[in-house]
Amino acid sequence: MKELKVGLVGLGWVAGAHIGTYKEIEGVEVVAVCEKRPTTAAELEATHGIQAKIYTDYEAMLADPELDLDIIDICTPNKFHRDQAVAAAKAGKNIFLEKPIALNYEDAKAIREAIQEAGVKACVGLECRFSKQFLLMKSVIDAGLLGDLHYGEIDYYHGIGPWYGQYEWNVKEDCGGSALLSAGCHSLDALLLAMDDEVEEVTSYGCKSTNPCFKEYEYDPTTVTILRFKSGKTGKVTASIDCMQPYYFHCHLVGSEGSMMDNKFYSAKLTGMVKERWSTLETAMVDSGDVTDHPYAPQFQAFADSIRTDTVMPLTDFDTAFETFRVVYAADLSNKLGRPVKLSELS
Ligand SMILES: NC(=O)c1ccc[n+]([C@@H]2O[C@H](COP(=O)([O-])OP(=O)(O)OC[C@H]3O[C@@H](n4cnc5c(N)ncnc54)[C@H](O)[C@@H]3O)[C@@H](O)[C@H]2O)c1
Repeated sequence: MKELKVGLVGLGWVAGAHIGTYKEIEGVEVVAVCEKRPTTAAELEATHGIQAKIYTDYEAMLADPELDLDIIDICTPNKFHRDQAVAAAKAGKNIFLEKPIALNYEDAKAIREAIQEAGVKACVGLECRFSKQFLLMKSVIDAGLLGDLHYGEIDYYHGIGPWYGQYEWNVKEDCGGSALLSAGCHSLDALLLAMDDEVEEVTSYGCKSTNPCFKEYEYDPTTVTILRFKSGKTGKVTASIDCMQPYYFHCHLVGSEGSMMDNKFYSAKLTGMVKERWSTLETAMVDSGDVTDHPYAPQFQAFADSIRTDTVMPLTDFDTAFETFRVVYAADLSNKLGRPVKLSELS
């Protein structure tokens, strides 16, 4: 089996979870890291338990012929994603790109073009698709237990205040971007996975908490987006990163034969169920904002397999993520312009 060598850029919070995950994946090793803060080999070993070549210059890491990297893992703040992803693709490297893919549609298209031209593989950090909760949700839908879905709401509530390391840059419009770009993209992505339909139009409104903890946000840290799908289905996504409550990934799907709410469900397809009572499906819920709890392992394994077998990875390949972010950009535009936005406006 070919050893896949990873060069990681941005040695912060999420990078720690990535490095921990690579250790669980056979035949994949982080051999280089690029971090703008001064970092020593001793620190890297003590904090992350790895020995890797350390760079402060990203281009130098990409170009180092001795490394011959297979994967560039981009874990920097959002505003660096475009240039770093384009440079990685141009250097012929496969890419793990943390979400959001880019801060705007033009930048996302530039990354897509660079990936297509280079013929490299790319995976996006929308790892919730690999969670047991959402794999189960998808199997319930695919088994026909909910019938035809006509409505879905999947919402993201996670207060990202000064207690988070990323707060300093996440509050900036030119880096965090929006409530959806910052974090709510996970719930919008899950809704698209569930509804399995093209979005035609979105309407989004935003607002902000009066709690001083969140005053630094330069954009609306709470948004609600209504989605109209081509087939007539409707959906709703709330993204709230200025809430004061435990992390909650709310999920409610409504279909012609049943409904699913988080891990509870009712299905008229199953004889003997009682419509007045929910039944519970036991699974591991997406109930933590801590990146060490996120399902990166099955995602990284699927990405490594796709590189080795030269196939498109399931669930979080770049093109699938691109469609999710196209809807995010349309929603953010709707909130900015104060009117519904058709997806066809983003060509
Ligand atoms: N998929 C998820 O669930 C998830 C969770 C958390 C974070 N993220 C994403 O991961 C990325 C990083 O977030 P974080 O919370 O780890 O941030 P962080 O601030 O903890 O880490 C970012 C690191 O990048 C370094 N850095 C900044 N600019 C750099 C540059 N030009 N070159 C090299 N290093 C540079 C910083 O010094 C810092 O160490 C963001 O895009 C975020 O959206 C995704």
